[in-house]
Amino acid sequence: MSSLNVCVSDFEEKARKVLPKAVYDYYCSGADEQKTLTDNVVAFKRWRLIPRVLRDVSTVDLSTWFLGERLSMPVCVAATAMQRMAHHQGETATARACQAVGTGMMLSSWATSTIEEVMSATTAAGGPGGVLWLQLYIYKDRALTLSLVRRAEQAGYKAIFVTVDTPYLGRRRDDMRNRFQLPAHLSMANFSTASLAFSEDSYGDDSGLAVYVAKAIDPSLSWDDITWLKANTHLPVILKGILNGEDAVLAVNCGADGIVVSNHGARQLDGVPATLDVLEEVVQAVDGRCDVYLDGGVRQGTDVLKALALGAKAVFIGRPVLWGLACEGEQGVVEVLELLKKELQLAMALSGCRSIAEVTRSLVRRFEFTSRI
Ligand code: FNR
Repeated sequence: MSSLNVCVSDFEEKARKVLPKAVYDYYCSGADEQKTLTDNVVAFKRWRLIPRVLRDVSTVDLSTWFLGERLSMPVCVAATAMQRMAHHQGETATARACQAVGTGMMLSSWATSTIEEVMSATTAAGGPGGVLWLQLYIYKDRALTLSLVRRAEQAGYKAIFVTVDTPYLGRRRDDMRNRFQLPAHLSMANFSTASLAFSEDSYGDDSGLAVYVAKAIDPSLSWDDITWLKANTHLPVILKGILNGEDAVLAVNCGADGIVVSNHGARQLDGVPATLDVLEEVVQAVDGRCDVYLDGGVRQGTDVLKALALGAKAVFIGRPVLWGLACEGEQGVVEVLELLKKELQLAMALSGCRSIAEVTRSLVRRFEFTSRI
């Protein structure tokens, strides 16, 4: 009998056994010395929950509004590229799992399934499609960039999350050592142009993805490009990858509809703070003018609760979804999401919170590190 998965790390342990090494490394790694990778997780341990008691928690409601959509919980799926390396159904399985659980999915520009295919996976049984958002990289080729936006609009995606922390790809040492590339039977499905197909024979000492980014993604991006994007779509535009109050204010001034406090799962600039540690600065700078979300290192229900208490409207998870997908496809992603939902529900009940609205700043206190817990 296979052992039960009782926490996210159980899924990771199983995924590590079933995935080819280069794929596991690509999913798992952070940049350089991976200091920020560790800190994203450890930061949650620096904050403690201060529960309230005797509040009748016989029912706890986790549901929340997210950009006009009702979600079953404030935990959504972050964009992670190339999901068909984890399971043959890749992003379509993830989208169906999110729909089953009642949450939303951010589809990567670098998905191994097309924008349309992923939406269709959620409408196959009839009824409305899932809550899907497109993560956008701004390409040097602006016409190509806009074509992704148009396709998302036409397919019924609800927002554009533009990634602002990737003018170049971070140095991920394992990917360099592995000469990481997408397996030959897969492709970045949203691009048909040969020049953008991800297939290089020789990368020097770099990973194939780093070479691709240097060729295709625009490192000259500036705030004007956000204004340009806003003017070119009716969908909400959310900036993913902000880590300080100054940039958060600039984002609001550019008309951003939301901000994801994110360090790209610690895969870009090593040595930046854990996202939880800068969340409050961003929330205060924004001062209610747009929604603030967080990703990075969220691995259990109490992590979600701490991020909400510090002002996040919702959180996103990246790697945990890949572990679920690798273990058991759609069902594995459902299990990961349901696990986090159960953990969050219990954490809220034990803290005296009956609804997301009752999760407030007074629920958390920062303690300096006195032990290894
Ligand atoms: C990512 N991330 C990412 N972000 C993005 O904007 N576009 C992308 O294509 C990808 N691809 C990607 C692949 C893999 C394997 C990982 C692990 C991450 C970053 C992602 O959206 C998110 O910011 C982090 O994954 C959140 O951190 P955790 O939950 O993985 O710790």
